[in-house]
Amino acid sequence: MHILSSVTVPQAWRGDALAIAVFASPKASSDRAESQVTKSLELSESLKNLDVRILGCTLSDLVTESEFTGEIGSSVSGRVGVDYAIRKVILIGLGDPAKANADTWRKAAASAVKWANKEKAKTLALAFPAYNQDISVTAQAIAEGILLAAHQDKRFKSKNANPQFLEQVEILETDPELADPAIAKAQQIVDGVILARELVSAPANIVTPITLADTAVAIAEESKYFNVTILEQADCEALNMGAFLGVARASDIAPKFIHLTYRNGTPKRKLAIVGKGLTFDSGGLNLKTGIGSSIELMKTDMGGSAAALGAAKVIASLQPTDIEVHFIVASCENMVNGSAMRPGDILTASNGKTIEVNNTDAEGRLTLADALVYADKLGVDAIVDLATLTGACVVALGEDIGGMWSIDDDFAEAIAKAAKDAGEKLWRMPLEDPYFDQLKSVVADFKNTGSRAGGAITGALFLKQFVEKTTAWAHLDVAGPVWTERESGYNNAGGTGFAVRTLVNLIIN
Ligand code: BES
Ligand code: MN
Ligand code: ZN
Repeated sequence: MHILSSVTVPQAWRGDALAIAVFASPKASSDRAESQVTKSLELSESLKNLDVRILGCTLSDLVTESEFTGEIGSSVSGRVGVDYAIRKVILIGLGDPAKANADTWRKAAASAVKWANKEKAKTLALAFPAYNQDISVTAQAIAEGILLAAHQDKRFKSKNANPQFLEQVEILETDPELADPAIAKAQQIVDGVILARELVSAPANIVTPITLADTAVAIAEESKYFNVTILEQADCEALNMGAFLGVARASDIAPKFIHLTYRNGTPKRKLAIVGKGLTFDSGGLNLKTGIGSSIELMKTDMGGSAAALGAAKVIASLQPTDIEVHFIVASCENMVNGSAMRPGDILTASNGKTIEVNNTDAEGRLTLADALVYADKLGVDAIVDLATLTGACVVALGEDIGGMWSIDDDFAEAIAKAAKDAGEKLWRMPLEDPYFDQLKSVVADFKNTGSRAGGAITGALFLKQFVEKTTAWAHLDVAGPVWTERESGYNNAGGTGFAVRTLVNLIIN
């Protein structure tokens, strides 16, 4: 997909499809919400001009016929008469201008791309209203929306049933000097998001711990500021990673402990990003049975590590200075065989703590335990872990919102801001210490699983046992948003690449 920016006004553009984004018309004034009436959209002078001169009045007809009001997420489109320079036109609602942010732009650009492709347009122009926001911010968001919406993963299809028609998108009426670098940055970011999407969407017979390790090695080769170490099973044994290795034990594929380091300049900040990397989670002897256990979706159980590697790929091309970032993934499969860990087994993690495994399906936290201990020993200021940790978090927040737990308010706020700018939804959840009582064990230091109630919280409290109190630490439960069955906004069905953009913002800001 080729994206360009230009000072061209819509009246002067020639091509297949023109998308015009418009703010909603103000609601007719009334105090009582139920009697509020929204008038259909009043076209601005310049749009009227464009409509009459170039579009054969298609816009005003569309607005009148559909009573289009410019509400966010709404659109109306039509065919322009054959004598005109543009074939198709769409009006895309941006909603209330007071509520508009980068994600409004991202989503509007995405819906334009999806529409243009359905209409078999090769060239598309985007006309956005002038807005008091930094052009580099809006252009980056628009370009991200275009590229994310256009990405189609056809690696496992034998035939290309829906070929992509769209070849070029032009962002009109903008300053290319500011917009072009922003578009280039969007491309670098989206490359990382797509890596994460494709790692998540690929099945477990394609993406194994070896694939994740190879991916980390390939990323390290993209920038001289990267260093990579892959710890093999024996290395992990030497480090006493009993919790991680307990999970890995029943797989025919050897575990890989991935440590990718980015260091450029004299670091002012040192950050560790730890991703859960279960390339398949069968549940172990507490096998995932029955509908609702979603065993067939457990290839996505490496979504946290996909986000970490996706962000690393972006960092390899953005090359931010004066920062040190460690990307850490304890990757393995949770399988069953004769040497599988048994419910009730006691494992010893690398910090010496003993864990009674009362449920082998709470395996993510066991792998993360040793990864967090390892990360903490690197002397970083902050650690953020990302994990498809619990179904309970999906029950609590639904599929579109990730849970965030943190012992550090400033770090939590920095993550929340990074997520907001990225258009990724996180909701802070409580680290309710008294719930840790659920994990009391008769024989070991604690168990790995509590009751169903508050299951996402006890998961977070378990992880907290493996970080020093002095390290700012946050845990993101991304079990819901790493995968989607239906396309929406700039996400297509499949892996979403969730949290890559949040992590990138966290690293570069
Ligand atoms: N990988 C799952 C969590 C999950 C569930 C991810 C649904 C994506 C969608 C995790 O390892 C798991 O099995 N968690 C258990 C924890 C329980 C045994 C305490 C769960 O959520 O049921
Ligand atoms: Mn599990
Ligand atoms: Zn899991």
